[in-house]
Amino acid sequence: MTSTNTPLTLGETARPVKPRVVVTGGSGKLGRATVAHLSSSGYEVINFDRVRPKTASEDGKTGLQGAYRLVEVDLTDMGQVLEAMMEIDMAYKSIQAVVHLAAMPSPGQSSSSKQFNTNVASTYNVLEACRKLGITNIVMASSETLIGIPLDIKPAKLPITEESPLLPESAYSLSKLVGETLAEQYVRWSQQTHRTPTGGEAKIISMRFSNVMLEEEYATFAGWQDDARKRYWNCWGYIDARDGAEAIKLAVESRLKGHHAFLIANNNTVMKKSSKDLVQEVFPGVEYSPLNDNPNVTLLSNEKAKKLLGWTPKYDWKP
Ligand SMILES: NC(=O)c1ccc[n+]([C@@H]2O[C@H](COP(=O)([O-])OP(=O)(O)OC[C@H]3O[C@@H](n4cnc5c(N)ncnc54)[C@H](O)[C@@H]3O)[C@@H](O)[C@H]2O)c1
Repeated sequence: MTSTNTPLTLGETARPVKPRVVVTGGSGKLGRATVAHLSSSGYEVINFDRVRPKTASEDGKTGLQGAYRLVEVDLTDMGQVLEAMMEIDMAYKSIQAVVHLAAMPSPGQSSSSKQFNTNVASTYNVLEACRKLGITNIVMASSETLIGIPLDIKPAKLPITEESPLLPESAYSLSKLVGETLAEQYVRWSQQTHRTPTGGEAKIISMRFSNVMLEEEYATFAGWQDDARKRYWNCWGYIDARDGAEAIKLAVESRLKGHHAFLIANNNTVMKKSSKDLVQEVFPGVEYSPLNDNPNVTLLSNEKAKKLLGWTPKYDWKP
């Protein structure tokens, strides 16, 4: 991504001008890793969240995980989203890219309708604000749940890829499918000059993250090893937050145009038992063609992200 010549605003002192990226949900689990990674990779990161990161100081000046600034925004309110993306007086003017991670992620955390409405309204507002402002570089969090999680119905075949059927089984997962559908249509609109006079063709990348893990959570994996059914629900997948953040950075920098979905999962499963044995035990009869000869090879294919984004996961739960 090239630097811009965004002018300094009142109150700013001279500083190196870096590409300015908004991360929504930058106070959350994946958001904190993403803010830190983009920031250390040379981006000026603005975190749009309705809460501060856990590490933030009372005055909000430190502990922002590397974010240049936190802007308290409720993404379900279009006025706030549009205004924050355009400019904040004395803080900044305009942004170049948006990484939209904010959502209510866990089923059971609220009423299903609140979760669905929050996630869908937030994604609509972010995409529509981007269209109005001519921002065409967008990366969004989708979810592995689209594969049919909790997989009580056996997958048709394994490994699961981006071409596998989309089978949302919860309000949360439905909200992610709606988000991807919106992305498809906003890309189409971006190709029409009457709708997008200022922008040009958009890139929207939907990242279907597997279960995001922090390094300190790897200690819990030992408790799953005695029973293949404890983690069958997502095909024993996971992704380290740091690898998720790197996939996001590569997506921001990608020259792809249009809407693209990627499964973002680690190279291996959360289990010591071989993937072949897990499939035989829990999904007997399901056609299975391993991606490679690693006995613990992932059942959520990450080949597309490797090929098109040049991504390689680096952090592994196994010592
Ligand atoms: N954690 C996982 O295992 C996982 C797996 C697949 C996909 N995802 C997706 O990745 C993204 C990040 O997940 P996470 O685990 O970091 O979640 P998280 O709950 O830790 O963080 C989400 C953040 O979004 C913010 N937020 C929610 N609604 C908001 C609103 N209306 N306005 C402003 N901010 C709002 C929250 O305050 C929070 O800081 C989500 O979109 C989630 O659906 C997560």
